[in-house]
Amino acid sequence: MSSTVKRYQGSDDYIASEELANIVNAAIALGRPLLVRGEPGTGKTLLAMSIAKALNKKLIVWNIKSTSKAKDGLYVYDTVQRLNDARFGDKDVSNIENYIRLGELGQAFASDEQVVLLIDEIDKADIEFPNDLLNELDEMSFKIIETGREIKAKTRPIVIITSNNEKELPDAFLRRCVFHYIEFPDRELMRRIVEVHYPNLEEKFINQVLDKFYELRSINTLKKKPSTSELIDWIGVLLRFGISEERLAEEIPFLGTLVKKEQDLMEVIRVEHQKAYGEANPKSYETFGRRYY
Ligand SMILES: Nc1ncnc2c1ncn2[C@@H]1O[C@H](COP(=O)(O)OP(=O)(O)OP(=O)(O)O)[C@@H](O)[C@H]1O
Ligand SMILES: [Mg+2]
Repeated sequence: MSSTVKRYQGSDDYIASEELANIVNAAIALGRPLLVRGEPGTGKTLLAMSIAKALNKKLIVWNIKSTSKAKDGLYVYDTVQRLNDARFGDKDVSNIENYIRLGELGQAFASDEQVVLLIDEIDKADIEFPNDLLNELDEMSFKIIETGREIKAKTRPIVIITSNNEKELPDAFLRRCVFHYIEFPDRELMRRIVEVHYPNLEEKFINQVLDKFYELRSINTLKKKPSTSELIDWIGVLLRFGISEERLAEEIPFLGTLVKKEQDLMEVIRVEHQKAYGEANPKSYETFGRRYY
């Protein structure tokens, strides 16, 4: 990489581990898409925003849905508008180019300056979707069939693709990407992430919060463990309601911001109750639950 190229190291609102920053820089140097996987709420989407911010580039976001088609990301030919104009308008409809709308990938290629393109949640689309993008992502160019115009990237966009692992991605697609799995942050990294969101927390308070949070995550029977985004929300509510670290030592107020499944709520209460009273003495189970509202 030339020394003039700015290296990514995270941004003021996003903490990137050294490993993550390295792989981002490697993907940029290779000009290959970076495929990021990881639990929900571990900062996959935010990573692309952070890269754009840190490297001072425009961000184009392509949110993938179950109905998304790869070619719509290149361009769509707005035949309906053209027909309407032909029938009711006084516009010149002979120039088809006026009815070509570039999709997100098309805009990223057509941009004069290098952009960051986020293809978010690629696993939401059907299995053909990644395969249909192989050529375009390889060559960073495509042809508009109706007009013959070629859209070719002047500088390869920085492409970040996220996946929640709902579906396996095809091998041919994986081969073309650089891959990173965002590990769930350890306590120290999480402390830095929390500090980005809440810079002036007291040491004792943040320690107590992290104790409770990692204690909850250690309950292996939970269907959906709380993640970074839930922790950030939880701290926000704790601060808003002035919950002290002393109270936190005894209770987990607003548990519903951390644990989102009814079954998991019951499981947390069961485990905590067991810790407090032991298996043999299930007294006051009802009132015990109040510690978690
Ligand atoms: N490394 C980080 N630095 C700062 N904040 C973070 C970091 N990781 C996660 N967060 C916080 O978690 C929230 C969720 O992050 P994000 O939306 O990027 O997660 P995600 O991995 O895309 O989740 P999902 O799979 O549900 O889409 C962010 O808005 C931010 O508050
Ligand atoms: Mg996301």
